[in-house]
Amino acid sequence: MADLLVRRAARVFGVDVGGGALAAVVIAGGRVAAVVPEAGLRDAVGAGEWPELDARGRAVIPGFVDAHTHLVFAGDRAAEFEARLAGRRYEAAGIQSTVAATRAASHDELVSGIVRRAAACLAGGTTTIEVKSGYGLSTQAERRCLEAVRDAAGLTSAELVPTFLGAHLAPEPDYIDLVVDEMLPACAELAVSCDAFCDVGALTVAQARRVLEAGRAFGLVPRIHAEELDHTGGAALAAELGCASADHLVYVTDPDASALAAAGVVAVLLPATSFSLRSRYAPARKLLDAGVTVALATDCNPGTSYTTSMPFVISLACSAYGLDADEAVRAATAGGAAALRRSDIGHLQPGARGDLVVIDGEHWVEIAYHPGMDVIAHVVKDGAVVR
Ligand code: NIG
Ligand code: FE
Repeated sequence: MADLLVRRAARVFGVDVGGGALAAVVIAGGRVAAVVPEAGLRDAVGAGEWPELDARGRAVIPGFVDAHTHLVFAGDRAAEFEARLAGRRYEAAGIQSTVAATRAASHDELVSGIVRRAAACLAGGTTTIEVKSGYGLSTQAERRCLEAVRDAAGLTSAELVPTFLGAHLAPEPDYIDLVVDEMLPACAELAVSCDAFCDVGALTVAQARRVLEAGRAFGLVPRIHAEELDHTGGAALAAELGCASADHLVYVTDPDASALAAAGVVAVLLPATSFSLRSRYAPARKLLDAGVTVALATDCNPGTSYTTSMPFVISLACSAYGLDADEAVRAATAGGAAALRRSDIGHLQPGARGDLVVIDGEHWVEIAYHPGMDVIAHVVKDGAVVR
């Protein structure tokens, strides 16, 4: 929990220090103490020695909050990706091949895979990562995935936020009984949220309702994969249950959008998944116009979106969803924080965690303007410079 002065920023996202002046972010004990004009810095911090990071006239934004990833897995599905390039359709059942590889991996292999991917996330400016289980699909294997997240958390500077996704498929008729009666009791202590993949080839609305209600009884915050492959009613269920987030929403309808807004459910949009699957893009503008809080996330997983890059996701959100740069950065920071129901991240107001990114340019529009390029100059987590 370090002290740091981030000096000479051209601009700081969400904070106006007035008059086009260069700004400084004061981080004390790992938390943002103030954002001030450079000229007022000595008044703010006194004469003492502070570690400094020189932003050199570039832009500063909060660290990205990637609120939807599946970082715990082994193996890869490059052959499946190639088959799709040749015209094959995506099917949720492809998850089973990652399940086999994940079950065959050792605990250490799972941990090192998470740590490696978290390092890539951090290098791209992501300081908080939600991580779902879901490639175990047995009580023992799901618990092992969450234990790997717990152990990886001590080996990366990024914060990992674990979600139980034992209901990533419903492979057998009595599988939901297993999730509710055995997996949740065994796994709940290792997770913050409970998710379910409600879609064609995965769970029905009734199955997802059962899982999310049971998860809530164990204190887990409900969230849901909804309307990704087709419209099946997951978004309405999210509104009914008051889920923290409904994710994907490619096939979301107008009444769904109104219901999500009224229930305060955050829409976590995953444009890299649409990109990789070459499918339709979620109607982001419709959701924003309906008053829904929108978050952007990577969905990093070996089946449908093998990327850790929030800058790439922001590029897609601007080019494919038609968001402006402010909307996209807000969704990738404060939006993600809202999806995780966190008030201490995703912004740089006093009291926030000292998690920030120095963009390699004077303005955050540079992120979307340079798709696929490295636009990150520095990353700071809890006041420590990690890149
Ligand atoms: O979010 N939709 C569910 N889970 C992942 C993909 C799962 C897989 O194919 O491995 C997703 O797209
Ligand atoms: Fe997902």
